[in-house]
Amino acid sequence: MDTAALKETWALAEGLGDEVPLFFYSHLFLSHPDLRSLFPVSMATQRDRLVGALGRIVSGVDQLDDVAEFIQQLGRDHRRFEVIAAHYSAVGASLLATLKHFLGERWTDEVAADWAGAYGLIATVMVEAAEASERTSPASWAGHVTAVERRGLDIAVIQVRPEPELSFVPGQSVAVEVPSRPRLWRYLSPANAPRSDGTIEFHVQMVPGGQVSSTIVRSLEVGETVRLGAPVGQELTLDQLERERDLVMVAGGTGLAPLRAHLERIDQDWQSTGKAPQVHLFHGARLPGSLYENRLFQNLAGRPWFTYTPVVSDDPSYPGRQGLVGDVAADSGALRGRLALVCGSPEMVRHTVSRLRAGGIAQTDVRFEQFATLDDDSHAMHRHTHDPQPSRLPQSEEGDHA
Ligand code: HEM
Repeated sequence: MDTAALKETWALAEGLGDEVPLFFYSHLFLSHPDLRSLFPVSMATQRDRLVGALGRIVSGVDQLDDVAEFIQQLGRDHRRFEVIAAHYSAVGASLLATLKHFLGERWTDEVAADWAGAYGLIATVMVEAAEASERTSPASWAGHVTAVERRGLDIAVIQVRPEPELSFVPGQSVAVEVPSRPRLWRYLSPANAPRSDGTIEFHVQMVPGGQVSSTIVRSLEVGETVRLGAPVGQELTLDQLERERDLVMVAGGTGLAPLRAHLERIDQDWQSTGKAPQVHLFHGARLPGSLYENRLFQNLAGRPWFTYTPVVSDDPSYPGRQGLVGDVAADSGALRGRLALVCGSPEMVRHTVSRLRAGGIAQTDVRFEQFATLDDDSHAMHRHTHDPQPSRLPQSEEGDHA
């Protein structure tokens, strides 16, 4: 297989912009009208999440060994879209037809055979992983909304009870779909440590123009049922050894959620064993009203292992620390040797990560995830690194994941 030709031809197609997904979806829905209902109502090409990823992943087939785990997870994750094995040939045929249409003379028999072969390899890994997971987990979970608490004008804290039980670890994210916005999935992070009653808390901040976030913050009610996908993500999870390390946590807005889940777990461990690593949490918000967990953390600051620094950027009358949360964290000293967990908007993450590195934290000790600030349907609300090689560098916010 000529993998260089795959990459080269994909680069050519990608360079043509929106025309490519437009052709792909038209081809797919004309040849298989039954697949239309798997996708969101609005299919503006700038919100394409499938075609770009498809081209990148298939043309990167030479790295399959390195990214096999990611591809398997993607295959399992496609069960929540109600994708079944039989759909793969339809998508493969539309992908090849699209490339043929745009590549002209560059689309030779050899190139066509290589694309078909590469797609087949990736599709097989996805289908096999999806089928294997059918024995152990549902395609999606029903999330019964048991509480909705609005904090300030634009933040909601919601509790859901998944059915069946959904196991996750602090730092992971879960895709969420609300009933009035079918097929528009958004990643949210559980903000709690796993509980005996199985309930999960999510924090949602309304994003201007964001259909899903505004629906959740404005009108989601107790008694409704959302759908939940399988927990994903490793960037902000901690393994056994890492759990013993001292931490610096830097959150922007509701990027606090996965860090709060760790704090809850650390506090539970501390209460039962008396042991905990040192943790310094910096929570940044534009306005003081968005420091929506202030009271909880002021109370927790009585723990010998916990330090809390709220930071406000856009209110000169705020009596506490002012500025950008990344600057305040980086200037706080005592960073060396700590593991940093960062979560917030892309700009906040980019700035904080570079400041922490400049402040002496080793590159490999800075973990981050970002959520989108533009929830215009083209972005996950909680951006998840759905990229075959999740990088530890902030990525541009051009649509996925995460
Ligand atoms: C090699 C095969 C495939 C790859 C690499 C692939 C990759 C992806 C990726 C990376 C996403 C974004 C995931 C996310 O937002 O969390 C996605 C979304 C999606 N994929 Fe696939 N996919 C493949 C096959 C298929 C097939 C066969 C179907 C069946 C129709 C399908 C239907 C979808 C749907 C409905 C979405 C969500 C689209 C949206 O939100 O606009 N995919 N795919």
